[in-house]
Amino acid sequence: MTSLKRKRYSNALAISASILFVAFTGMQVASPRVTNPPVTSEFHGPQEVTSILKRACYDCHSNESNLRWYDKIAPFSYVVAADVEEARKRFNFSEWDSIPKDEQEGKLWYMVNMIDAGRMPLPAYTAAHPSAKVTPAELDVLKKYVTDLSKANHTAGDTARIQQKAGLQTSNAPAKAIPTSVNGIPYFDDYKNWKVISSTGRPDNGTTRLIYGNDIAVKALEENRINPWPNGATIVKVVWNSQHEDAAGNVMPGNFNNVQIMIKDDQKFKDTEGWGFARFNGLDLKPTGTTLSFATSCINCHQLASETGFVFDIPTKKHAVKH
Ligand code: HEC
Ligand code: HEC
Repeated sequence: MTSLKRKRYSNALAISASILFVAFTGMQVASPRVTNPPVTSEFHGPQEVTSILKRACYDCHSNESNLRWYDKIAPFSYVVAADVEEARKRFNFSEWDSIPKDEQEGKLWYMVNMIDAGRMPLPAYTAAHPSAKVTPAELDVLKKYVTDLSKANHTAGDTARIQQKAGLQTSNAPAKAIPTSVNGIPYFDDYKNWKVISSTGRPDNGTTRLIYGNDIAVKALEENRINPWPNGATIVKVVWNSQHEDAAGNVMPGNFNNVQIMIKDDQKFKDTEGWGFARFNGLDLKPTGTTLSFATSCINCHQLASETGFVFDIPTKKHAVKH
């Protein structure tokens, strides 16, 4: 290289370096800042539960974001700020009571399912923040918490009353016949030990519902084998009246209203897209339908969810159809 050439080369280098420097510092000046608005209402749970959530979720889903220095440097700061903004919109532990009481439990189930599916905390985030990871043992703590919560909220009084009414108690009193739908599907209450795959509130008609899946259904969801669903998949939807209002004006789940069942068996239930439908109403579990045609009304509506194998509540789908 001649000395002139060398000079030009280093000039060019210096110029590119200063352009980069200006661009970089410019980015820093304009860099979005994550601010922490006041905490208006806090999520309260057992200490072992809150400490997991605080460590793994609060950086994004609360007004107590505790960002590390490298999160504040562009270009990372742009990504982090956008994530925090979006995350707080979805739900915010620092504004917990803005979620209606009867939907909080559903949100918690949603969280557990998202962690279970490896989707939360955001994998890109845990790559840079390994301490935010939720260990399998911690996931078990969270699962136990939501399971106990759902039992406490829903089944305490109802299970006993339903069993008593329907004569299902395992006392030495002679058991009454188990209520059975005209298409041969009997009522069962195993679902109480199944995984809750979704939960929705319907403030318009004052009900709360939990949707349970048996192992086959849960596995099919995890593996995205839902069109068609495998035989044996069973989904149960339980509806409660959300009528209780406590002294503070919180609406709590009320009495059992009905239970609805879908069992996949493409031989037995050919006429209804392979799903056997059954519905039992009230504490005496009175089956819906006196002729087989009742199931036609069920499937007619569930045709709307044909893309997801005739099931509406698909937890892993972000914007599942809600009616
Ligand atoms: C780095 C930021 C970040 C962290 C940490 C984080 N999340 Fe999220 N979360 C998001 C963003 C962004 C969304 C919305 C986009 C999406 O769903 O991917 C979201 C969405 C969700 C949703 C869906 C909510 C809805 O109504 O759509 C759930 C549930 C959730 N997060 C749970 C958690 C849990 C539980 C933790 C802690 C174990 C956690 N997140 C940690 C950023 C984060
Ligand atoms: C008017 C439309 C309509 C009719 C009729 C209907 N369903 Fe549904 N069903 C829905 C919608 C919408 C959902 C999802 C939202 C929810 O859970 O409330 C649903 C959810 C369910 C679920 C939970 C699984 C899923 O698809 O999300 C079961 C089980 C169920 N219905 C059973 C029945 C049975 C049994 C009948 C007939 C006795 C019936 N449905 C009739 C609209 C209908």
